[in-house]
Amino acid sequence: MTRVVSLPGDPGLGSEVARYLGIAHSTFLSKRFPDGEVYLRLPEPISSDRVLLVQSTYPNQNDRVVELLLALEVLERYGNEVVLVAPYLAYSRQDKEFLPGEAISLRSIVRALSSAGLSALVTVDAHSSSAIREFLGNRRYINVIPVEVFAEALRTYRSQELTVVAPDQGAAERARALAEELGCNYVVVRKSRDRVTGEVTHSLEPLEGLKGVAVVFDDIVSTGGTVASIATFLTARGVKVVLAVSHALLVGNALEKLTKSGVREVYSIPTVAVRVPGVRYLELAPYLAELLKEEGVV
Ligand code: R5P
Repeated sequence: MTRVVSLPGDPGLGSEVARYLGIAHSTFLSKRFPDGEVYLRLPEPISSDRVLLVQSTYPNQNDRVVELLLALEVLERYGNEVVLVAPYLAYSRQDKEFLPGEAISLRSIVRALSSAGLSALVTVDAHSSSAIREFLGNRRYINVIPVEVFAEALRTYRSQELTVVAPDQGAAERARALAEELGCNYVVVRKSRDRVTGEVTHSLEPLEGLKGVAVVFDDIVSTGGTVASIATFLTARGVKVVLAVSHALLVGNALEKLTKSGVREVYSIPTVAVRVPGVRYLELAPYLAELLKEEGVV
């Protein structure tokens, strides 16, 4: 039997996916010990099942990762086959050693999850799916990029007036796919980062001459700095800017920064366990459920 089990970081996708697929759903009981350590318990014994374990890892990344390790331990010990559905996998941006001696956090997290009993992994628009694939070894891996979900919402704009903007080279493939779905063009901005100071610079020349509506399409928006500098440039040239982002972390005053830079709308999907007022969240669960069915995961 296949069932869905949610952890505390599930942004509500587990129960919706289970309902959509008509399969059982349960939730781990969780509490904190007085010193802050995590306690988990399965509410009822589950053994010899295929379990879709749903956990997102933002906010409170460190607690969410520990919950995952504990959940995998118990599910594996009871003989279940665990497919982890992690709509947002934290620590993904450090996917290589940029400076000598740096920890490759993504490698560390993926290896820890693998040795804790994971048999397959499903992510949504992972920052570096190729690195995850490499670190997972021969375990099955599916990275879902729901361009159709964003495209459906963006069809309120006429394709002739739209251009999709990739805020860096890493976002080019995602932008190409969305542009294809919308029947419009796309452009790629060049971004470089000083690895010591962290300072980011953009070469915005590819945006010169752009008209109409620009859809900036990124995987993660954290401080909003990347998108704000693009939006400031475009807004000053009379272009209307909207943002489509898979993981709207929007820390601190990020949304305000985006609005001030001229971003008119922010579209996102519920991959993290926060809802920021003012963001338009699109439905993800039916799309995810269908895809899991198509891929033979359920
Ligand atoms: C980086 O490569 C990511 O794809 C995002 O562009 C980045 O995380 C955005 O960060 P921020 O919103 O802080 O500029």
